[in-house]
Order: sequence, then structure tokens, then C-alpha cells
Amino acid sequence: MRTIEEVPLAGQRVFVRVDYNVPTEGTGVARRITDDSRIRASLPTLRLALERGARVVLASHLGRPKGRPDPELSLRPVATRLSELLGRPVAFASECVGPEVEARVAALQAGEVLLLENLRFHAAEEQNDPTFALQLARLADVWVNDAFGAAHRAHASTAGMAPLIAERAAGLLMRDELHHLGALLAGAQRPFVAILGGAKVSDKITVIDNLLPRVDTLLIGGAMAYTFLAAQGTEIGASRCENDKLDLARELLARAGERGVKLLVPSDHVVAEAPRAGATTEVCRGAISAGWLGVDIGPETRRRYAEEIARAKTILWNGPMGIFEINEFAGGTLAIAQAVATAREAVTVVGGGDSVAAVHKAGVAAQLTHVSTGGGASLEFLEGKLLPGVAALD
Ligand code: 3PG
Repeated sequence: MRTIEEVPLAGQRVFVRVDYNVPTEGTGVARRITDDSRIRASLPTLRLALERGARVVLASHLGRPKGRPDPELSLRPVATRLSELLGRPVAFASECVGPEVEARVAALQAGEVLLLENLRFHAAEEQNDPTFALQLARLADVWVNDAFGAAHRAHASTAGMAPLIAERAAGLLMRDELHHLGALLAGAQRPFVAILGGAKVSDKITVIDNLLPRVDTLLIGGAMAYTFLAAQGTEIGASRCENDKLDLARELLARAGERGVKLLVPSDHVVAEAPRAGATTEVCRGAISAGWLGVDIGPETRRRYAEEIARAKTILWNGPMGIFEINEFAGGTLAIAQAVATAREAVTVVGGGDSVAAVHKAGVAAQLTHVSTGGGASLEFLEGKLLPGVAALD
């Protein structure tokens, strides 16, 4: 794949599609970014472009404004944060297309940066409207896609505008994401342990399907574990369960068995009377009594999973082990974060918003091989899909 390193950039209008869909809190002027990792992750690409004398135009979406301008979803605070991180001014345009923006882009000098307003203030972005794609293309000599997190969307900026521009290239973040996630699907070192959590089996079914021929061990946690346990005939009390997915869970367990993949489910649990902070909790082994629900993996499961993780040469982790947003139920997820970080000999890749938040909360992100910036995009990639934003690259 052609990367930004291979494209002449000096004096060119380099349109970089980034994923600055970052969490914010507060309103109006008090709005602040609570996690700037996606902004930081774009810095290598931007520094390279600026060093090579590019005139940089940045475009992103933020949130889901449904095709209408929404001041609470403006990218303006991102321009401020990016400017602090880059150590140079970042100009902001309060539109992303039109004659005024075209004039500002035309006036950009080598080494200058202009961030455009939220692309999704126009419904045409998500509709991948050809006229909107053309309007965006008017701002660019080179199209760089560094928005791995949005690469599963076939939108005007992530895909539609690409063929309208002579030069297309992957940014350095896109390159790294595809390298690390791609290595899991082709030629990963064994033993390969995948840890999958989260709420629903149905969300992970295609990933499990695609991973079964590749992994040695699958460790299951999170609410989806209760669907597997119920499928095996274990009492799960009031735990969350997808009753319509029990057959599917049985089929996955059988298929794992046929392939010789060790599929482990929790053997003990932190259970609570209600899924909220302050609720009465207990640790229980095996069956969960009526009126109690599983909210986290228990200490024995943490130990068993940590042993598997310690033996691995490749580790993929996607999805939390419990309701980790509530501190009392975060212990299992944090224990897994520690175990993955301790596996120093292994290639360790973490993807998906919640598990990424967990490695940050555990303070271990820097010890991992790769922490993906993609939520939905990393899942779809691991499902084996060709992402539209990747297909649009040369
Ligand atoms: C993400 O945060 O996963 C990406 O930015 C995509 O956002 P979307 O799900 O609103 O398309």
C-alpha cells in the first residue's frame, strides 16, 4: 500500500482525513476533550507532512450530528488541543466545503495547518454524495487517509473523494493499524490467545468465526459469557443473556472443540443484586443464584486467564470482562489489562473502545505492542472485511 512517505508533498494541498471523533464533556466554551489519544495518534503523519512542506488540510467527523450543524459537536476545541500538541498554530474553518474554505485553502502556505469543521454537519458526507465528494476534492492535491477509526464507513471523505484526486496514500497511523491488526490474521506467532468480552455474542460472532482457524485459545468474558454459560446448562440467575443466541453459542463451542481451540468461559463471578454502583456484591463459583447477576469475572477466572495469557506469543484483546465503567465491577477487566501488559515476550494488540479505555485506566498502554484507535473499524477488520476507507487507497 502506498503511504504518505512515498508521495511528493512540498507545496501540495495535502487533505488528511483524520478520525478526531473524540469524547468531550461540558458544554459551550467549557467543552473539553476527555481523551485526546486519537489526536495524538495523528501527530506522526502531520509532523511528516509539515516537515516536507505540505499545506495541510485536516478533516474529520465528531459524533453523530445527523446532517445538521450542532455547536456542541464543533471541532473547534480539537483545533486548540491539536495546536498545543503540535506546537504550532492550527487555523480553524467554520465550514468544510464552499468558496470561503476554498479561498482559505488556496491561501495556505507550506507548513501551515487548517482544520475544517465537522464533516457530518452535512448529510451528504454520510450519504457519500458525489457532489459533496467533488467539493471536498477541490481542496486537495493529495488525499491521505489516516482515519483508521472511520475506515469502515463508506462516506464522502473516507472513500467517495479518493478517486477524484490524483495522489492517494495511507497515513502513518493507518499504516500501523493495518500492519498490527493484519499480522493477527496472517502469520501470527503461536500460541495465539484472543480475549473477547463485551455485552453481546451477536456483536462478536463474525470475529469469533474468523479467529477460530487462527487462534489456540479463546478467553470469553463480559456479559456475553453468560450466554455461553447458559448454553452449557449453567444457572446464570438474573445475568444478562441473549436467549435467542443459545444455539449459536452451542455451535461456536462445538466448532471450537472440532478445531482443537481451547474456549474458556468464567468459572467464578462477581455477582451483584443490581448492575449499579453501591449494590451488594458477592463472589460465587459455578451456578449463579436467582436474583443475582454476574457483573465481572471472579478471582479464579482472573488467575486461569492470566495463566493462558502468560503462555501466549500473540495476544488480542477486545471487549471488557465486566461492567467496568462502574469501579466496583472493573477488577476483572483491570486484571486482564495487567496480565496482557505483563506478557512482555508476546505481541499484544488491544482494540475496541472499552478495552482501550481499560488499558489507559490501568496505566499500561505504553507496555503494549499496539493499541488500536478503531472501535467498530477494528472489529470489522478482524471479521475479515475489506474496509471501504482501505479499499479506496492505492
Ligand atoms: C468511531 O468512533 O468508532 C469512529 O469515529 C466512527 O464513528 P461512527 O460510528 O459514528 O461512524
